[in-house]
Amino acid sequence: MAADRILVTGGAGYIGSHTCKALSQAGYQPVVYDDLSNGHEGAVLWGPLVQGDVRDAERLTKAMSDNRIVGVIHFAGLIEVGRSMHRPDLYWDHNVNGVAAVLSAMRHTGVGRLIFSSTAAVYGTPSTSGLLQETDPLNPINPYGDSKLAGERMIAAHCAAFGLESVALRYFNASGADAEGQIGEAHNPETHLIPLAIEAALAGGRPLTVFGDDFATSDGFCVRDYIHVADLARAHVLALGLDRIDRGFEAMNLGRGVGASVVEVIKAVGAACGRPPVYEVGPRRAGDPPVLVADPSRAAARLGWRPEFDDLQTIIATAVAWRRNRRFGASILPNAA
Ligand code: UFG
Repeated sequence: MAADRILVTGGAGYIGSHTCKALSQAGYQPVVYDDLSNGHEGAVLWGPLVQGDVRDAERLTKAMSDNRIVGVIHFAGLIEVGRSMHRPDLYWDHNVNGVAAVLSAMRHTGVGRLIFSSTAAVYGTPSTSGLLQETDPLNPINPYGDSKLAGERMIAAHCAAFGLESVALRYFNASGADAEGQIGEAHNPETHLIPLAIEAALAGGRPLTVFGDDFATSDGFCVRDYIHVADLARAHVLALGLDRIDRGFEAMNLGRGVGASVVEVIKAVGAACGRPPVYEVGPRRAGDPPVLVADPSRAAARLGWRPEFDDLQTIIATAVAWRRNRRFGASILPNAA
């Protein structure tokens, strides 16, 4: 019997490519749909690539029918919290029109299940420092979070009206790389903490700027929940195979439920590299909430999902190994051409 074919928009990107590997290992056939604006052709290793813009409903429809697609995992979109504050136009356009085009193509081709790449940024600034639950208030504080929440709501409405089924996975901070070193994080420009801290620990590397040390946290630095990208990838496969989706739409947090401050990350990167990252403290970055840590119990109960990478040091070690042997993505310096 032929493997079920899954369209993976943004499948040439960081989380997308790890998910394609997990799909393939689980017996699915991923078909990547990506415009390669941020993704890498070298990361498309487990199935064909259809090049196209995620806002192009016609091209998506053709990709779904040509490839006899039975499910969609939608990653393609813009992901930087900081940049979304300066270019909200781009975030609303790509992230909201992208979802609309995917939904339209699914309706036209009769594809019934969608796994959506959502984010902890939908919670905004939590009112407590406790673990975030899916039922907590949704009040994004940046256009990135706004655009992702709009995507979730558009999907939920389509599920109710047209009988689609969807799971929105709210990622906390994706990190690390494939343990076999085939794929890893290769944004250009890179803006994320762990790859930049690794760069700052390398001889001649560019120093890291820490965005603020005066947050209301135990050491004054921002706290995030760093979750290994292979664990995120596995959750998508489990969501795709979920028997019944409650009222057609469910949202689930994907994190470890453990926070680490920016300085704790810097120390762990120093330990993994054998040399401390050079850093200076600068002003806060607009749009950064002080603490975001998941309560992952719903994903555990519904998907049987538990992170296999359960400590920060191991997660960071996989990112360092990838940086040392990276196979694609030449430059990761911020603002590199
Ligand atoms: N940080 C720095 N200096 C840097 C980069 C980051 O101090 O050069 C700090 C940030 O202020 C933040 C932490 O490191 O406190 C993590 O920042 P990242 O940019 O690595 O990640 P974000 O938390 O901003 O966002 C990431 C993804 C989003 C996702 C979010 C969920 O980019 O897509 O995690 O928490 F929604």
